[in-house]
Amino acid sequence: MTTTAQKTAVRAVGTAHVRVEGRDKVTGAARYAGDVPFTGLGYGWLVLSTVARGRIRDIASAPVLEMPGVLAVLDHRGAPRLNTDYAGLMGIRPDPTCAVFQNDTVPHLGWPVALVVAETPEQAREAAEALVVDYEVLPHDIEFHGDHPDSYPADGHMPGVTDKGDLEAELAASAAVVDEEYTTPEEHHHPMEPHAATARWEDGRLEVVDSNQGATWVVGELANLFSLDPASVRVRSEHVGGGFGSKGVRAHQVAAVMAATILDRPVRVALTRPQMFALAGHRSPTVQRVRLGADADGRLRALDHRSVSRTGTIYEFVESSAGVARTMYDADAHHTENRVVRLDVPSPTFMRAPGEAPGSFALETALDELAEKCGIDPIELRLRNEPDKGPVSGLPFAGRNLRACFEEGAGRFGWGRRDPRPRVRRDGRWLLGTGTAAASFQAGAAPSTAAITAEADGRFTVRISAADIGTGARTALTLVAADALDAAPDQVTVRIGDSDFGPAMIAGGSMGTRSWSLAITAAATTLREHLVPGTVIPAEGITVRSDTTAQIAALTNMERHSYGAQFAEVAVDPATGEVRVRRMLGVFAAGRIVNPLTARGQFTGGMIWGISMALHEEAVRDPAFGGPVGADLANYHVATHADVPRVEADWVDDTDPDDPVGIKGIGEVGIVGAAAAVANAVWHATGVRQRHLPIRPDRVLTAAGDDA
Ligand code: MOS
Repeated sequence: MTTTAQKTAVRAVGTAHVRVEGRDKVTGAARYAGDVPFTGLGYGWLVLSTVARGRIRDIASAPVLEMPGVLAVLDHRGAPRLNTDYAGLMGIRPDPTCAVFQNDTVPHLGWPVALVVAETPEQAREAAEALVVDYEVLPHDIEFHGDHPDSYPADGHMPGVTDKGDLEAELAASAAVVDEEYTTPEEHHHPMEPHAATARWEDGRLEVVDSNQGATWVVGELANLFSLDPASVRVRSEHVGGGFGSKGVRAHQVAAVMAATILDRPVRVALTRPQMFALAGHRSPTVQRVRLGADADGRLRALDHRSVSRTGTIYEFVESSAGVARTMYDADAHHTENRVVRLDVPSPTFMRAPGEAPGSFALETALDELAEKCGIDPIELRLRNEPDKGPVSGLPFAGRNLRACFEEGAGRFGWGRRDPRPRVRRDGRWLLGTGTAAASFQAGAAPSTAAITAEADGRFTVRISAADIGTGARTALTLVAADALDAAPDQVTVRIGDSDFGPAMIAGGSMGTRSWSLAITAAATTLREHLVPGTVIPAEGITVRSDTTAQIAALTNMERHSYGAQFAEVAVDPATGEVRVRRMLGVFAAGRIVNPLTARGQFTGGMIWGISMALHEEAVRDPAFGGPVGADLANYHVATHADVPRVEADWVDDTDPDDPVGIKGIGEVGIVGAAAAVANAVWHATGVRQRHLPIRPDRVLTAAGDDA
């Protein structure tokens, strides 16, 4: 293979391709975890606590065991003991909610107290609903406030506190100061496909067909929990209907493995939509205080971002909302702080752009407020504060094309024609406004392995334990592999979602496609060295494997991020408080875009979540019983078609010659800043700031009641 051949080949990366599994999905041929048939399948139904804190005194399993079809009732009195003392993926210990039936303690409403297994799902459900659990009820506290006396600074997936300079002195010396509190509510992932797992023992191996974001990750956790050799566990997750951070190891897989072990037959456990409110994780509410101090020209002297989030009593998860300021903006004095308070609620978890999504709402709204105070255009204010190195890390940027995003976006959106004054545009009864915000999300990579086989018929098969959770990853990897092999995409079959393909990064942290592409490219390079002209390929093909552990360790430590500029136009009805997004544009700099077709869906999907976050999503927890009011998708509002008129996403060139694949990741940056752009547009329409999400009609009316 010569470099000349590579250069002259038609490249697949960068051209639009429909999903390689698209036909299977729309015809129903693609099977999801709850669809795969098994002979002798038993169905498990989880029984969740109806008290928010307490102890299990008794579980009346005897009468339930007499019910039709019931095979077993599993609870803390007889369930297998689990090992929970280990470091999980990247040192992140799994949420102990997955370690079900280990003791009689109930730490929150919706805690799994038993699993009823029966011959049919209907029998399991009926028996589960008939199971009487007697609790000693203990007082609970779920009331979350920003000034809760028990909050403490905490590291999450990033450090808790960073600090430089003299904040108070710089604030005192500032010509313009913003000091405001912003809040975001409890939010839930709710992927379309609920969590489901089927476990069975086959020839001494445990096999779990599951819906998750990383098959080898789930293998590792299950092997640890059940003290098994990881080689004796196989997890398959060929098709996954969304995850958004909620699909790691959770209660249902563990319960299914327990039941399959005890009954020695396949057992499936699927979560219902209401159960997901307690068992799938969620995004914590946040209370954030942002203080900005600037010179008259808008240059930041002081930046202080403090966030308080909520976690459960058994697991500390931190919604690190103050982190986004560490890479976005510099100031002479710069302080960021993530605090958390433990209350009697389920553990929150990673949810699409954890930290950045709520954090950017507060920070990017505060910047808009500062722009207003300084009389500077909000885009110009941001550009004047573009740092030339990491504000906290001091590291150089591996490309920072935020300026290009704003310039391209402003031109397309018509920002130059905007009257900066609020409440001057009308369309009949509607007040119109536009707003903008910046976005960023880190671009990382983690060690992965891949195998590529040159088949005797001239085709190639790639095997990698990647997960396509609806992103189009399988198709993107097909294009990456085709280019790396100097083949056409239809000569390449990419097989994913099987832990037997070897360790690989999960679909998470916007790191999947970059991590997997590095492994595939490395394997392809080796394979091409084998395939010199005249090579005869044997019937079993020629297979090479790659492992990027050393390559990833050798990557230069830099500030590597995707960026974006978000623009929104809203109409506000001052009589009803209704906010309608009329159009939205996001322009991103996110490395090499592998498949424009599915990439656009990733960006617009994130932006639509941003609209949803700005206007609709809010789980309200009742302090009396401790759970969300109306735990279903009728009461938990999300943006639907009618809420999403024109949402466009595009990107600017963002090449990184130092990176072998040049991919940065696009899964999460689309939601970052989106809610702030909408909120800033609502201010521009009405003249009133909205600092609390969601921007419900009552909040618009209370704030801008003068016109109602
Ligand atoms: Mo994402 S919240 O890293 O699955």
